[in-house]
Amino acid sequence: MSRVNPLHDEMKKRYQDMMTSLQHDDTDPYALAFHVTPPTGWLNDPNGACQVDGVYHLYYQYSPYDALGGLKYWGHYTSTDLVHFKDEGLALLPDQPYDLHGVYSGSAFVEGDTIHYFYTGNVKHLGEHDYITSGREQNTVHAVSYDAGMTIEKKQVVINSSDYPSFLSNHIRDPKIRKIGDQYFMVLGARDLKSQGLVVMYRSDNLTDWEYHGSFLGPLEGMGYMWECPDFFSLNNQEVLILSPQGLAEDGLQYQNVYQSGYYIGDIDWESVTFDPKSDFIELDRGFDFYAPQTFEDESGRRVMWAWMGLPDAEYQNPVDYGWQHAMTLPRVLTVENHNLIQRPHPNYQQLRQNEDQRLVNVTEGAYEYFTGKVAELHCTFDAVKELEISIRKDVTLSYDNTTQRLTLALGASGHGRDQRQIKLEQLSELQLFLDRSSLEVFVNDGAYVMTTRMYPEPTEDKVEVTGELQGVISHWLLDK
Ligand code: FRU
Repeated sequence: MSRVNPLHDEMKKRYQDMMTSLQHDDTDPYALAFHVTPPTGWLNDPNGACQVDGVYHLYYQYSPYDALGGLKYWGHYTSTDLVHFKDEGLALLPDQPYDLHGVYSGSAFVEGDTIHYFYTGNVKHLGEHDYITSGREQNTVHAVSYDAGMTIEKKQVVINSSDYPSFLSNHIRDPKIRKIGDQYFMVLGARDLKSQGLVVMYRSDNLTDWEYHGSFLGPLEGMGYMWECPDFFSLNNQEVLILSPQGLAEDGLQYQNVYQSGYYIGDIDWESVTFDPKSDFIELDRGFDFYAPQTFEDESGRRVMWAWMGLPDAEYQNPVDYGWQHAMTLPRVLTVENHNLIQRPHPNYQQLRQNEDQRLVNVTEGAYEYFTGKVAELHCTFDAVKELEISIRKDVTLSYDNTTQRLTLALGASGHGRDQRQIKLEQLSELQLFLDRSSLEVFVNDGAYVMTTRMYPEPTEDKVEVTGELQGVISHWLLDK
């Protein structure tokens, strides 16, 4: 068990004092209505996602004191329905010599009555360093909860940064665990000394002693200098490896963002414990704001994924006038169908649906359909689409052209630097749009593609207009808590 750091109580108190004096300002026109946002300050990756005794736990990278980021803690939300979330305060504080400069990302692994957490303890040394090849520790730390996730005790460093193989740089982080037979397997994202990304594998019989087992996947030609947040699981009898690589070159319509998140489908060779991709690397989201996804298997066996609805080092901005920044995506349910990972919105959100408006539409040139509401769902199934334009709150458009076979998401000034993303699509059969006050998630063709973006339209604009030449059914709901 970790020594109690006298700073710990001070840090907790400082946070509690801030939270007690925090004034809630309900005039924020961009406050999200049905997405997880930080109570105050900055949020990034989802961490430790799990469901125990019916309760979902979503921990997250949290810098409570600055909406522009800073020292990382783990914040904690619980939920019984994935729609309403309760703020449970700080779960892990950077209060030990091995995690002093940040309780970085990690995951939860549930076994019996115990939740085991593995996370990265970030430490930066004083002095002249590049913090890539020297000056940084990224320790793998084991922590546990014996009360179903409500309090977490740090146990110990299980892989000290000095014990990683010498061909790696100082960047090795974001552990994710899986048990197969009676062995535990841990993947970590890494950057080697040649600035190539890879996923490394460790093995253990007891969750305490971890033995390096080599590269699980990578480095791979053209796949960047660092891989963050690996996740691996079996789904519909296929093996999936998710990662967030940095340093990929743009490739046509793909890899347009500064960093990507995507997956491979393949096989695991259990002799060598290596991953053999049978697919290309496929981006999980083709919009602007999506990174560091993490999945967990819920108690009914579904594979559920959250991601940070943001990006590190993005060129585009979010307003921070109300003292907070960033959000989680809606939780998505994953399946593998025909060798593709399909993402559908977790169905629990449907309990928010109000004021259903369903229309059989036949839109022709010069005509339009319109709906009103800033917090809403729009679901379209098409019999035929020649041209389509969905205009959202005046400044965001989603359009499809049957001749160019492109689906285009375009933002004007409301994008704060976000401009346009496109997908090549031979046929458009379905669109499902989730509109929150400052976010949009578009599920395309029953989860084959997703485009996610933050958006900042004029607060007074609230119309969604559909024009073009199309036939089908459009349903609209307000989403209300
Ligand atoms: C991904 C990431 C992780 C790291 C964490 C720090 O966004 O860089 O690799 O653990 O954020 O907040």
